[in-house]
Amino acid sequence: MLIPVDRDGLVVDAIGRDVRAVYVTPSHQYPLGVTMTLARRQSLLSWAEQHNAAIIEDDYDGEFRFGGRPVDALQTLDNSGRVVYVGSFSKVLLPTLRLGFIITPPSLSRAVEGPRPNRGASNKRRRRGARVARIRPPR
Ligand SMILES: Cc1ncc(COP(=O)(O)O)c(C=O)c1O
Repeated sequence: MLIPVDRDGLVVDAIGRDVRAVYVTPSHQYPLGVTMTLARRQSLLSWAEQHNAAIIEDDYDGEFRFGGRPVDALQTLDNSGRVVYVGSFSKVLLPTLRLGFIITPPSLSRAVEGPRPNRGASNKRRRRGARVARIRPPR
């Protein structure tokens, strides 16, 4: 389902009733380039909490701006563990690196990692699985 975007970003009131996850590019909405305002980010987070939904925040070019302070990422503003933050080194380093990362809330980390590697599996089978590095935040 496509959701309309206005000058403040994604129109939260237009999200359908049965939606359980929303994918957004709040730093620069792709392809229009709108930056989601702080008020709209808070409204989206409230919506997600009310509807027990997840937000996938694709911050693929959040480091790029010509002026002004950056708005806090949804993941930074999130108090209820609903935002999966997706980043990429394509723009800040080089696109051929093909390296990205995700930051998950604790409640979703098992689901994102997938099943534990099978100790009996061959090296070839293990290599086919996704590589997951755990980076724990400082306490
Ligand atoms: C919407 C969107 N997400 C993510 C990316 C980053 O993708 P990749 O890391 O594969 O270059 C891009 C690249 O332009 C993009 O336009």
